[in-house]
Amino acid sequence: MIISVALPLISSPPSKADPDAFAFNRLLGRGINLGAALEAPSEGAWGVTLKADYFQAIEDAGFNSVRIPIRWSAHALPDPPYTIDPAFFERVDWAIDQALSRNLAVVINVHHYEEMDNDPVKQAPRLATLWRQIADRYRDRPQALFFELLNEPSEQLTDERWERIFPDLLQAIRDSNPFRMVIIGAYWNSLDHLPRLVLPQDDRRLIATFHYYTPLRFTHQGASWVANSEGWRGTKWDKDQEGNILRGDFEKAASWGRQNERPIYLGEFGTIDQAEMESRASWTRAVVREAEKSGFSWSYWEFCASFGAYDPVAKAWRRPLLGALLDK
Ligand code: GLC
Repeated sequence: MIISVALPLISSPPSKADPDAFAFNRLLGRGINLGAALEAPSEGAWGVTLKADYFQAIEDAGFNSVRIPIRWSAHALPDPPYTIDPAFFERVDWAIDQALSRNLAVVINVHHYEEMDNDPVKQAPRLATLWRQIADRYRDRPQALFFELLNEPSEQLTDERWERIFPDLLQAIRDSNPFRMVIIGAYWNSLDHLPRLVLPQDDRRLIATFHYYTPLRFTHQGASWVANSEGWRGTKWDKDQEGNILRGDFEKAASWGRQNERPIYLGEFGTIDQAEMESRASWTRAVVREAEKSGFSWSYWEFCASFGAYDPVAKAWRRPLLGALLDK
């Protein structure tokens, strides 16, 4: 397939502040997460089945990229050789090609690997073998395909353990994809943990990521998976009162990026449909503006489930959200 965006030439990786890494991050630009589909226990179980039309709508709206969260762990043997189900792989091939053929850069990750969060030492060899298979399969795909090691390391997968484990995952990728861009975040992909993320100095094809849902009582009000969030219903967001918190938070991330000479990808941010639309649009617009001022690429959470910017029944964008995202 033909990618018409200008890609940097692939050369041997320089040791510091690889300009190509920043160019690749700009390729991610403005993106949206195709959540609740391949991250569900099986596709469709959470009400979303990917469709070609979805990729078309995303391209037509003017996004640059998609992030596709994937629950590989539910589609691979639990024991060695941890083989990934061939039919599932074909489904992911299709999704990747849907994006690339429409000129959308694409991030695939490992999402909801809960066994890994709960028992990282035992599960790490399985995760490395999953990555070995994924990387090998996609080694010849264009550089507009990005790999993200693991969504929100959490529970037992502390920053210390993650620091010891992720180099093996990265190596499993580098053996077949020496120049592929790889995205890595800290515990919970939280901004507060970003300073604990220690990336290998000699690998410059890396992008650091964080997720932003502050204030949680606004973005996650009434979310069934967040304890006590029922009581948060009715919370609004006011830029005049809370905009300075957002600016301060993003300045922390930007300053980490400058110090470490790494590009930054805001891989998730978004608000649930239980919050009122005016606040949602205002928060979304403010986050996007701050991210772009800081030079971060970003991906809204998410396309057409409970945080959705798109209404799959009406087959239409929710205009206030789309307008906020793409400054329309
Ligand atoms: C994280 C979770 C995902 C959830 C989202 C918003 O990505 O893995 O399941 O929907 O955050 O809470």
